[in-house]
Amino acid sequence: MKIGILGTGMVGQAIGGKLVELGHEVKMGSRSAGNEKAVAWVQQAGSGASEGSFADAATFGEMVFHCALGTAALEILEAAGHDNLKGKILVDLTNPLDFSKGMPPSLFVFGTDSLGERIQAAIPETKVVKTLNTIANPIMINPQSLGQDHDVFVSGNDPEAKAQVTNLLKEGFGWSNVVDLGDISTSRGTEAYLLMWLRLWQAFGDTNFNIKIVRQ
Ligand SMILES: NC(=O)c1ccc[n+]([C@@H]2O[C@H](COP(=O)([O-])OP(=O)(O)OC[C@H]3O[C@@H](n4cnc5c(N)ncnc54)[C@H](OP(=O)(O)O)[C@@H]3O)[C@@H](O)[C@H]2O)c1
Repeated sequence: MKIGILGTGMVGQAIGGKLVELGHEVKMGSRSAGNEKAVAWVQQAGSGASEGSFADAATFGEMVFHCALGTAALEILEAAGHDNLKGKILVDLTNPLDFSKGMPPSLFVFGTDSLGERIQAAIPETKVVKTLNTIANPIMINPQSLGQDHDVFVSGNDPEAKAQVTNLLKEGFGWSNVVDLGDISTSRGTEAYLLMWLRLWQAFGDTNFNIKIVRQ
């Protein structure tokens, strides 16, 4: 499949690299084609990897991953071109983190709203599926690294889109527990969890942890 990645950071590189490894053609997009980080990623990811602008990546992808800075998430979708995303699945990994007052960051969306909902509202003809935003990037693509079962969540309005993303998470990335939380408004919970995730990071001194849901 042809897949577009919006974002050149750790998440874009990790997800993009895994997708290339799985045999997909992946175009990484950034503010301008020829971005230093994207070019370096293409060189090491190998055949199947390419780079361009946000619009190039959105046009190229049959499915597109949003892996960029939360505060710029909507602006980036405009640069990607809403029409270029029409009818496609947008996998949203962003978090609404506000670093303006230093560490730890706060949330700029909270309670009765979420960045996932804002993204879905901005591109109503695109099927947004929020997932993996609760997990550090090395674990996203290698869940076995924690040595036991743990959970990842999906939120989105389109059941078929969630099923397709769930399949990729399971068959491609190796997740065994994928919890469908419901519509895109359930992003409120997974985004708000970041407040706790950041404190767990401070408490443990590393990001090698995740949520495990225990039920009777
Ligand atoms: N790091 C993790 O392990 C992790 C885990 C879960 C979720 N997340 C979420 O995933 C997203 C990506 O995280 P990250 O750490 O990989 O990268 P990041 O530093 O949050 O974002 C990097 C990307 O954002 C773009 N960007 C930055 N400022 C911009 C602006 N003003 N306008 C347009 N684009 C801008 C950069 O573009 P240029 O390349 O053009 O500079 C780059 O492609 C974030 O929303 C984060 O909260 C991260």
